[in-house]
Amino acid sequence: MEKQKISINAFRAQFPILKKTINDHLLIYLDNAATTQKPQSVIDTLCFYYQNINANVHRGNHQLSNFATCAFEQSRHIVKTFINARSEKQIIWTKGTTEGLNLLANSLGCQLTKGDEIIISSLEHHANIVPWQMLAKRTGIILKVIPLTEDQTIDMTCFEHLLTTKTKVVSISHVSNALGIINPVKKIIALSHAKGAQVIIDGAQAIAHLYVDVQALDCDYYVFSGHKIFAPTGIGVLYGKKHLLEALAPWQGGGEMINEVTFEETKYNQLPFKFEAGTPNISGAIALASAINFINSYDRQVLQENENKVMKFTENALQAIPEITIFARKQPKCGSISFSVAGEHHSDIAMMLDAQGIAVRSGRHCAMPLFQALNSKGSIRVSFAIYNTLDEAKSFINALNKIITLLKT
Ligand code: ALA
Repeated sequence: MEKQKISINAFRAQFPILKKTINDHLLIYLDNAATTQKPQSVIDTLCFYYQNINANVHRGNHQLSNFATCAFEQSRHIVKTFINARSEKQIIWTKGTTEGLNLLANSLGCQLTKGDEIIISSLEHHANIVPWQMLAKRTGIILKVIPLTEDQTIDMTCFEHLLTTKTKVVSISHVSNALGIINPVKKIIALSHAKGAQVIIDGAQAIAHLYVDVQALDCDYYVFSGHKIFAPTGIGVLYGKKHLLEALAPWQGGGEMINEVTFEETKYNQLPFKFEAGTPNISGAIALASAINFINSYDRQVLQENENKVMKFTENALQAIPEITIFARKQPKCGSISFSVAGEHHSDIAMMLDAQGIAVRSGRHCAMPLFQALNSKGSIRVSFAIYNTLDEAKSFINALNKIITLLKT
């Protein structure tokens, strides 16, 4: 695909919502870790689908159904190439990261027995904690948690102690949603494999910022959500190694996931359909592929360098404000920076920023146990995307400085 030349302003113009005013100010959207904004081409893809080719997939022998099926399966191919999976059979459509993790907790859970161990880290989102706790309650498997170092990152020494031949699954975020830390997943995968454990990577916060190559990572499973990478909500992907997916029992039963059904028994369909019971999110899958095509039509490295520059500027500027403490300050990060303001409640700051059209997230970011471990009530999180500009970062820092001054007086 020929790459388009990039002017960041022209690039931003592709995202209609970024022209909106909020509270009489031009929107500055710094809540991209919660969800990203959508380019016009993705919005157009959704309209095109419903106006021209809406039909159920793999079910009809009429032309519309064939059009929808072709677009749907072509989208699987585009995702496969984007994350460098070997085969489309390894790309399972889900509702998002949370559903991918629940699917694994249920299906992998069937292979585990009482006393088997699963390791997660202190940095995980609730979606990578609660499904395992539910499994532990049902089956008696043991959930172990890697603690943090003083630098607020995964304690790899403790991880190596926790990891034993009893460990069957290690499930870790690629990038922490709450603090933006990039976890050493390649090392975690290699160490886990050496003990015979399978590794799940929660890629929700990595997919829009890092080049994800599932074969180079050698992860067993990788899950992510479309809406974190400029696609609509309600569509996501579970990637898995083929032999592992083949050995997993399906999680949900229904149409599409079967080959043959009698009242006595059911023969399941082949991959990937075995895990796709019911009518899938057809338009969402096609729009996810459209989002990937959109990114691929630009030089992603140039866009990523711009985002990294904006984020670095913000981090340096935050560090220079005496009242501010940045979480995991020394750690390599991408996408998000979390911080607190001495003596101030995180949600007051977020509300005062919102009054100036600046959207950030505050609180515990669906990671309550992490904030317990940090002995903190929550943080303010600024999170970036490839369409954010240095001017936006400067406006954010100016607004924040003014808020801090106002609150001090
Ligand atoms: N997981 C999303 C976040 O971190 C909602 O904000």
